[in-house]
Amino acid sequence: MHRILIIDDDATIRNVLTTFLEENSLHVEAAKDGESGLALLRDSHFDVILCDLIMPGTNGMDILKQLSAANNTIPFILITAYGSIQTAVEAMKIGAFDYVTKPFVLDELMIIINRAIEISNVHKENIMLKKQLKRKYAFKGLIGDSPGMKKVYELIEKISQTDSTILITGESGTGKELVAKTLHFNSARAQGPFVAVNCAAIPKDLLESELFGHEKGAFTGASQTRVGRFELANRGTLFFDEIAELDLSLQVKLLRVLQEREFERVGGSKTIKSDARILAATNTDLEKLTKEGKFREDLFYRLNVIPLHIPPLRERTGDIPLLLDHFVSEYAAKRKRKPLRFAKNVIERLMHCEWTGNVRELENVIERLTVLASGDSIELSDLPEEFRDTGGSSDEALSYKSDKASDTTGKTFDIPLVGVNLNEMVYDMEKNMILSALDKTGGIRSKAAVMLGLNRTTLIEKMKKMSIQGKK
Ligand SMILES: Nc1ncnc2c1ncn2[C@@H]1O[C@H](COP(=O)(O)OP(=O)(O)OP(=O)(O)O)[C@@H](O)[C@H]1O
Ligand SMILES: [Mg+2]
Repeated sequence: MHRILIIDDDATIRNVLTTFLEENSLHVEAAKDGESGLALLRDSHFDVILCDLIMPGTNGMDILKQLSAANNTIPFILITAYGSIQTAVEAMKIGAFDYVTKPFVLDELMIIINRAIEISNVHKENIMLKKQLKRKYAFKGLIGDSPGMKKVYELIEKISQTDSTILITGESGTGKELVAKTLHFNSARAQGPFVAVNCAAIPKDLLESELFGHEKGAFTGASQTRVGRFELANRGTLFFDEIAELDLSLQVKLLRVLQEREFERVGGSKTIKSDARILAATNTDLEKLTKEGKFREDLFYRLNVIPLHIPPLRERTGDIPLLLDHFVSEYAAKRKRKPLRFAKNVIERLMHCEWTGNVRELENVIERLTVLASGDSIELSDLPEEFRDTGGSSDEALSYKSDKASDTTGKTFDIPLVGVNLNEMVYDMEKNMILSALDKTGGIRSKAAVMLGLNRTTLIEKMKKMSIQGKK
C-alpha cells in the first residue's frame, strides 16, 4: 500500500483528505504543522507528500526547500490558496511535483496523486538499481571486489552455463563450497538438486554405496535397496568435496562414470545412466599427489577440465573490510542487535593478519566478537589476543605466532637463513598451534577447530597426519 503524508494546519481539510485517500486505498498519515510533518518524514518512508502552503511556523515552502536541500525525491504536491499562483510557480522551480489550488475537486487531486505515485515507483526502482550497482562487488552471495575475486566471478560467469567438470582449488576456508553452489545456482541445472559428497567425512567402505547406491542384500546390512548420490544428483550437480581423499579403488570407479556416464548400484547389474554435472574441490595440490602416485593421473585430467582457483585471503586483503561488513550485518540480523562498528585501526590490524583459515576464520572471529562484545564498537583491545598488535610496525604481517618464532617483545626475530627447512618449521608451528588449541579446549576437537579457524574435518585430518590424539 502506498503511503501519503498530509501536512495541513486545518483539521477539516486533514479529516476530509484522510477519509477520501483511505477510501482510495492509500495509507495516510497527517501532521498538523510543518515541524511534526518533518519529524514524520525523518522517521518513516512516504511515497507522496501533500502539503499546505500557508501554515504558522514552518510553512510549505520551508519544508520544500529543506527536502530539496537534502536531495529528497519524494513527489511533493503543494496546496495553495486561490491567487497565490506566483508562489506555486516558485515551488515548481524548487522541485515541487505539482500544486493544487483551494478549493480543489477531490477527483482531480486524485489524478495528480496517482501520477505522483507512478513517479515515486520509478524513483524507488532507480534507488534499488543503484544499490544493486553498488553491490556489484557482491557476486550472488560471494563477497569481494579484489582483482583475484573478480577473476573468479568472470570465470564463474563463463562456465556456469556449461556442463564441463570443474576442479575448484584453494586453501581451507577460501569459499570452495560456496563457489560450487554459486556455479550450480547460476546454471541451467539450478532447479535440479545440488548434492555434496565429502570424501574425507564418509568412511572408505561406505563411500561406494553412498555414491552408487546398492541393491537389497548386496552386503551384510543392506536390507533395502538404496539410491546413491549419483542418482540423487540426476539433472543437478554432484559436488565432490575434498576429492584428494578419495580412495584409489574408488578413483577408478569415478573415472568410469565420468567417461561413460553410467554406473551400476553395488550388487546390481542394471546399468544406470548418470546426468549429473560434476564439480570437485580440494585444498591440496592434486597435481603433486598425481606425480607421487597418490592420485590417478587420468582422473586428475578428467576433473581438471576447467581449473578454478580461489586465492587465499592474505592475497586479497582489500576484501577484508567488505567481508567484515557482510558478516557483521549477518550476525547482527541473526541476533537482532545493532551491527558492531570497528575502529579504523582494528580494520587495519585485521587487514594485516595472516588468516591461515581464510574467510572461515574471519567469519568465526566476527561471530566471537559479536557474542562477546559489550558495546557496539570494537577497539583493538577487544580483539582476541592473537590478533592484537604486540608492538611490531603496523605493516608487519601478524598472525598466530608460536613461542619459538617470537622474542620477548613479540616481534618476529631474524631467522638465520642457513640450513633452514621452511616446511619443517611450518609443520612444527602448525603442530604447536594445534596442540595448544587442544590443550585450551580440553582436547575437544570441534572447539579447537573453531579456535583455529579450521573446518573440523581439516583439523582431524591434520591431527591424523601428525599423530595427535584428541577427544571428540
Ligand atoms: N567470498 C566470500 N563471501 C562471503 N562468504 C564467504 C566467501 N568465501 C567464503 N565465505 C564463507 O566462509 C565460510 C567457508 O567457506 P567454504 O565452506 O565454502 O570454504 P571451503 O573452501 O570449502 O573450506 P574447506 O576447505 O575448509 O572445506 C562459509 O561460511 C562461507 O559462506
Ligand atoms: Mg569445503
